Amino acid sequence: MRHTVIRSKMKKSSPLMDDPIISRYIPKTDWFHTSSLRRMLRAYSTVYIKPDIGRRGNGIVRVTRRNRSESEISYNDKTIRCSTDDVHYELQKILNPNKKYLIQQGINLATYHGRPFDVRVVLQKPLRRWHLSWVSAKVAPRRSSVVTNIAKGAKDIRINRTLKGIDQPLNRLEVMRELIDVSYQIVQILGSRFPLKIIGLDMGIDKKGRVWFIEANTRPDFKGLGSLDLKQYRRYLEAKKLTARR
Ligand SMILES: Nc1ncnc2c1ncn2[C@@H]1O[C@H](COP(=O)(O)OP(=O)(O)OP(=O)(O)O)[C@@H](O)[C@H]1O
Ligand SMILES: [Mg+2]
Repeated sequence: MRHTVIRSKMKKSSPLMDDPIISRYIPKTDWFHTSSLRRMLRAYSTVYIKPDIGRRGNGIVRVTRRNRSESEISYNDKTIRCSTDDVHYELQKILNPNKKYLIQQGINLATYHGRPFDVRVVLQKPLRRWHLSWVSAKVAPRRSSVVTNIAKGAKDIRINRTLKGIDQPLNRLEVMRELIDVSYQIVQILGSRFPLKIIGLDMGIDKKGRVWFIEANTRPDFKGLGSLDLKQYRRYLEAKKLTARR
């Protein structure tokens, strides 16, 4: 079996949304169009709009309802305010008409020294079983950042250090246990649907300590990670070597 890269975010999220146990860890997700925008903005105070096929945090837009009538649209480093009724009109100016977009329930990410972060979890399947090779945090550059991608200025930080410096009073051990457990369950599902040997998960922890799946990368990036944690990096390299031999 050869590893296959899967680019569509919807294709990777669908089997997870269909699973009766794992679906509660998946933010509500739909194709973006006028009616889904209206419905999602009624249900959630923050929504994310992302290209179905996209990388490195490019083209991601956040819409937050500020009050009954007013909303805020943030993308790149810009924020504009408009009436909630006009959000669709404003988005048409921002979104690429040639791309398909998803709309997703926004997760209120926990913060480290005031800045939101998500968790990079990498699992590999060199032989028959999935092994955990990497866990670390990606901390956004600013309090107001829309994304936590390294390509957009986020920093990789060791998970222990991040959880020690987290601004919310969470049970760190319990959160970690659940994060790892859910990650294993996610790769079991995705690995049974697609021919995969490595999966990099972007997992979120919200301010209340709930664990969320954000995205699965089938070509995770390890740039610069060797110097962050050599032990974990070696684990990744060993599994990669074994995979290549088969
Ligand atoms: N529903 C969400 N709620 C909160 N933050 C989100 C949500 N979706 C995305 N983000 C933020 O945006 C970042 C990028 O989103 P995502 O990982 O889905 O796309 P991408 O990084 O462009 O794609 P790839 O990981 O393939 O490069 C996430 O790491 C996270 O910080
Ligand atoms: Mg990502």
